[in-house]
Amino acid sequence: IRQKAIAKVNEARNLKELQDIKVAYLGKKGSLTSVLRGMGNLSKEERPIVGEIANNVREAITQEIDEKTEILEKKAMEEKLESESIDVTLPGRPVKVGGSHLLTSIIEEIEDLFIGMGYEVREGPEVETDYFNFEALNLPKGHPARDMQDTFYITNELLLRTHTSPVQARTMQQYGGTEPVKMICPGKVYRRDTDDATHSHQFTQIEGLYVDENVRMSDLKGTLNRFAKRIFGEDRQIRLRPSFFPFTEPSVEMDISCKVCNGEGCSVCKYSGWIEILGSGMIHPNVLEMAGYDSEKYTGFAFGMGPDRIAMLKYGIDDIRNFYTNDKRFLTQYHHAK
Ligand code: PHE
Repeated sequence: IRQKAIAKVNEARNLKELQDIKVAYLGKKGSLTSVLRGMGNLSKEERPIVGEIANNVREAITQEIDEKTEILEKKAMEEKLESESIDVTLPGRPVKVGGSHLLTSIIEEIEDLFIGMGYEVREGPEVETDYFNFEALNLPKGHPARDMQDTFYITNELLLRTHTSPVQARTMQQYGGTEPVKMICPGKVYRRDTDDATHSHQFTQIEGLYVDENVRMSDLKGTLNRFAKRIFGEDRQIRLRPSFFPFTEPSVEMDISCKVCNGEGCSVCKYSGWIEILGSGMIHPNVLEMAGYDSEKYTGFAFGMGPDRIAMLKYGIDDIRNFYTNDKRFLTQYHHAK
């Protein structure tokens, strides 16, 4: 038994094999164990002799197994270290860097421009009350101009804002009729439109508001001119056309000239050569009064523009749905826009 066992131990190639050998010889059903069990059948004289031999054999095998265990453990550890070693000279895996959504970039660019002209950037709720979305803007219930903006109503009094203009009313109210206000407000707005290349039931707007003593139409024109040239290029012209909004009087729409120049020269865009960019006007006295401003003392202007439309014109994008369907092939093209 002893010789066989030791030979087997020497042959063992790994710890599992060694464990099996240990069980086969020294385990409960092992061959040495059965010798010891059989001792009951021996005579009194034979027992101590056989017992001593058996114990010696057990000790010898145990010692052999322990030595071999140590060797195999060391080997296993070496193999493990070898296989887990890190090759620091391998090239790294590139980390994918994200970028701003094009609308975010455009909005930030417009914010930067207006911050530079002393405007603060404000926010307002997308779930708005009928009062701020309409009434405080000189659009009482039943006013026909409410139809201009197909509205998602939530209850009789709650709706999804159809424009960012309610933030005009909210801001003026907060300023309490005593201080000048200069703010812009970017945000999402909602209209009950069927989505197509130029309509989206959710899009973005940036509202602008300037209230002070002696704010004039020429201040509005100068501000919009600066905006248009900064965003579309110094070679662009603006033109103001009479329009109607219930909350401004007079009201205007602004067009920019759409001369497009490239390496082959300049071409003027289809139709008239002008394209509409935003709505604006001098704040209606009723709106000032409702927010607590004395319309004899204070005047102001407001404008509302659509970053979706601005981005489409600036980058020649022909479908507004591109902004909202999150196709990375579209979005990543503009990660370095500005
Ligand atoms: N709120 C108007 C719209 O959504 C735009 C606008 C804003 C017009 C401010 C005048 C003044 O069409």
